Amino acid sequence: MRRWRYRSNRTVGGGILMKASTTFDFDGASVIVTGAARGVGLSIATRFATAGAQVFMVDFDREELEGAAADIDGVPVTADVSCTADVEAVVAQVLESCGRIDVLVNNAGILRDQVVWKLSDADWDAVLGVHLGGTFRFTRACTPSFRAQNRGRVINVTSYTGLRGNIGQSNYAAAKAGIIGFTKTTAKELARFGVTVNAISPNAETRMVASIPDARKAELAAAIPLGRFAHPDEMADAVAFLASDSAAYITGVVLPVDGGISI
Ligand SMILES: NC(=O)c1ccc[n+]([C@@H]2O[C@H](COP(=O)([O-])OP(=O)(O)OC[C@H]3O[C@@H](n4cnc5c(N)ncnc54)[C@H](O)[C@@H]3O)[C@@H](O)[C@H]2O)c1
Repeated sequence: MRRWRYRSNRTVGGGILMKASTTFDFDGASVIVTGAARGVGLSIATRFATAGAQVFMVDFDREELEGAAADIDGVPVTADVSCTADVEAVVAQVLESCGRIDVLVNNAGILRDQVVWKLSDADWDAVLGVHLGGTFRFTRACTPSFRAQNRGRVINVTSYTGLRGNIGQSNYAAAKAGIIGFTKTTAKELARFGVTVNAISPNAETRMVASIPDARKAELAAAIPLGRFAHPDEMADAVAFLASDSAAYITGVVLPVDGGISI
């Protein structure tokens, strides 16, 4: 059985992250990353591609996706994670190309913020459909392969907001809380097939964070014990670890990669 090894030459100086070059060897692995056109998803896809994996980069923003995939030699797959037919077509394409799926990263996300009394059905459904629905649809579609291989890794992306709530984000909080329950349940269901299912809870400087008003963003940064938002590559470090053999005995866990905000 292929072993995915850990190599690290990360350098940390004076408490400041000088160089993040942690790598794992995913040579020949078949990896699906959703929401991979930018932000956290692009960092995750880049990390796997750099480590030798064939990375299927799923996003519904075709233009941004194609540029990103060309940069890292990934396979761009335009699809909407909230659409069952799209998800099943992606999985069929991956299996036709590689014959197996080693890692699934459910990362795609959107925001449609509004206080609950003004929140429309459309904005509720859209956010639940992408975050929770996409995570469900991809996990379900990959499960026959995981079971046949008797091996697999699923890493979902949740949020601190799913545990603590946030004004204007009842749809997002409900979706992210749902992902935690989904992660723990599928971890139990799939363990017997050699599959681990975990989640990360990020806090990274991406376009999603850039959409937060500056005053609120400054407040949020001040409340982070480590005093800053992370670079998205720091999320990729955690995902690569959870996908590696070093994490073979870890399942059903939500790993905060959030500078301590959730302490
Ligand atoms: N950035 C943070 O601090 C933070 C904090 C907590 C959780 N998260 C979560 O991390 C994930 C990535 O966040 P990000 O900050 O990189 O966001 P982002 O907006 O930069 O990227 C999200 C990507 O998902 C894609 N996407 C959205 N809907 C899609 C759909 N229906 N089908 C396919 N692709 C779709 C977008 O096109 C985009 O490329 C999200 O799930 C988000 O909720 C981020």
